[in-house]
Amino acid sequence: MTQDEQKRAVAREALRFVEPDAYIGVGSGSTANFFIDELAVIKHRLRGAVASSARTAERLKSHGIWIDELNNVDELPVYIDGADEVMESGAMIKGGGGALTREKIVAAVARKFVCIVDASKLVKKLGAFPLPVEVIPMARSYVARELVLLGGHPEWRMGFTTDNGNLILDVHGLNIVDPIAMEAQISQITGVVTVGLFARRGADVILIGAPEGIRTITPTRRK
Ligand code: 5RP
Repeated sequence: MTQDEQKRAVAREALRFVEPDAYIGVGSGSTANFFIDELAVIKHRLRGAVASSARTAERLKSHGIWIDELNNVDELPVYIDGADEVMESGAMIKGGGGALTREKIVAAVARKFVCIVDASKLVKKLGAFPLPVEVIPMARSYVARELVLLGGHPEWRMGFTTDNGNLILDVHGLNIVDPIAMEAQISQITGVVTVGLFARRGADVILIGAPEGIRTITPTRRK
């Protein structure tokens, strides 16, 4: 099974979490794109979708799936999205595609976060993938200096602007021993909009596409 076949397989598997006549939260990235394509087959069963990025909104629209603003949606049973790295605890690094802020907002509203990944994304420790941090443009250098104090090596994602008009610093080399603590620490730096650590609100279900089939992990609830 190729990596894309693994992504497609978990995307299809994720359909069983879609609740009828309800809104569904939809993430961003190549795995989420496979999910959107699968979702199109059952679109008549949906009330609508909430998108976590402009690109996802475009793809949903291209399939004729009704999208609504999060502010108009009071109940979001499920959010389905990929990750750059995920631990069995449900803690993730996200934001490789730069959509971390909207992803974190939609995930916060959803009752259940279903993470869909190929086998290469499952890790024992987060941080080999550079941690994306969305920053207000005028705070870029200040935030970068603060991230260096935490042991990281921030790299400005040149030429990239988020859907919210901000910048991304990709932070290499962080020693993420306690993902929840580091998420809180980085979030508190003035000028940081969102850190791509999704640990306080991690995944409730992880679907992993592997050559031998799909594995489901249900992390125990965090306090
Ligand atoms: C985008 C994300 C994606 O979920 C993450 O980058 C994984 O993407 P892919 O499914 O293409 O590997 O967080 O901001």
